[in-house]
Order: sequence, then C-alpha cells, then structure tokens
Amino acid sequence: MATGKTVIAFDLYGTLLSTESIAHELAKLYGEEKAASIAALWRRYQLEYTWRITSMGDYRTFSEITRGSLTHALSEHGFELSAGKTDQLMQAYDFLHVFPEIPAALKLVRENSNLVDAYIFSNGTLEMVGTSVKSSPDLGPHASLFKSLITVDDVKCYKPAARVYEHLVKEAGKEGSKSDVWLVSGNPFDVVGAKSAGLKAAWIDRAGKGWVDRLDTLHVPSIIATGVEDAVKSILGWVKDAKARTKS
Ligand code: 2OP
Repeated sequence: MATGKTVIAFDLYGTLLSTESIAHELAKLYGEEKAASIAALWRRYQLEYTWRITSMGDYRTFSEITRGSLTHALSEHGFELSAGKTDQLMQAYDFLHVFPEIPAALKLVRENSNLVDAYIFSNGTLEMVGTSVKSSPDLGPHASLFKSLITVDDVKCYKPAARVYEHLVKEAGKEGSKSDVWLVSGNPFDVVGAKSAGLKAAWIDRAGKGWVDRLDTLHVPSIIATGVEDAVKSILGWVKDAKARTKS
C-alpha cells in the first residue's frame, strides 16, 4: 500500500547478515586458513551463478544456487562433502550474525518510523530469507521492524536485473515515485543495479577502500557509508531536508 514515507530496503546477505561467519562452520571441517578461502570462493560462485542463470534466461532458487556453489568451491579446493555435511553447512545460513552496527541502525529506523518504512530485499526465497531473519540470534529480535520481506523469487531472476528493482518498487507501493526508494547494500553490483533502475542507493564500504567498481560510471552510489547505521543517518538527513524543501 502506498504511503508518503520513504522506503529503505535493506539487502540481507553481506549487508545486515555477515556471510563471513560461515567460515567458522567451515573451519570446524577444514581448519581456519582453508575455511576463509573456501568461504570467499563459495560466496563468489554463489553470486556468479545468479548472474549466469539470469543471463541464460533460466532460474534456480537461491538455496539450490547456494548448495551448488558450495560444492563447486569445495571441489576447487580438492574436497568432497556428503549430503549430510552439506546440509549442515547450508544450515549455517539460518544462524548468521549481523554486522556490529546493525542493532543501532535498526533502533534508528524504529525511532523514525514516522518518516521511513523498512523492508528486506534479497535474492533468497521467502523461506530462506524468513528463516535467516528469524533464526539469526541478533536479527531475529528486530524482525517485526520490517514491513515485509521482498524477494526476487517472485520474478524468477536475480539482482541486478532491472525487473527485480521494479518488483521492489511495486511491492513497497512506490510505483510512480521510485526515487523515494533507497536500497542499502554492501554489494556494489546491487547498488549499480538499483541506481540504474532509478532508485537511490547507499553503499556500505566495509573495507574502507572507496568506490572502485567501474562497470558503469553513471550509476554510482547516492551515499557511501562506513556502516549501515551511518547510511541510515544520512538517509534520514536526506528525508528531513527534502521535507523542509517542499514546505518552503
Ligand atoms: C542478497 O540479495 C545479494 O546476497 C545478497 O541478500
């Protein structure tokens, strides 16, 4: 339903939830050093698979993609896993931890709920995202803050296809005013996709290296923030300024 409020759509994996905590599960099986390398490759193939399947005009759920990319990353390291152990690693997605500043960021959103509506916007299926949010020990308690979980599974293609951002705009009741929709994401490809589709986007620069993505020099982040709390503060500042401008 359309409201006059600004929409903040939070990407989930890699923005609110840290997928690096998966490395701890992998470390139990392969030791610290190999675990970090497998986790990074797993995430890389997970995203690469989403882009490849979308380019092919085909679709597999994010759970299938995540499972397949794990097997791929393990094979490249010379490992094979039983189905049972793969299930165990997949379950790590249900117990991911948030980045340290997330509770403060969500508190800020709650305190300003007269100005902004919060959503989760993810590549995961509704089931996967719902479980990741509810079961995460530190995101679960904030689940009621989100008006809904919006997933690409409804449109059967992945970020950064324009259709998924159009879906977000529609689900958030913002058709005709998509510049009132902010994406907050730590993933540069997601930020460029949202900007290219006409939304605003805050990029979380966790590594502190600045914006280095050069796919598209036109669609750069509206805001670059050191963390999600910082991004929410800047978006609220923007919302308040915009309100003041329309009054004067
Ligand atoms: C998400 O959609 C891209 O993994 C990221 O949650």
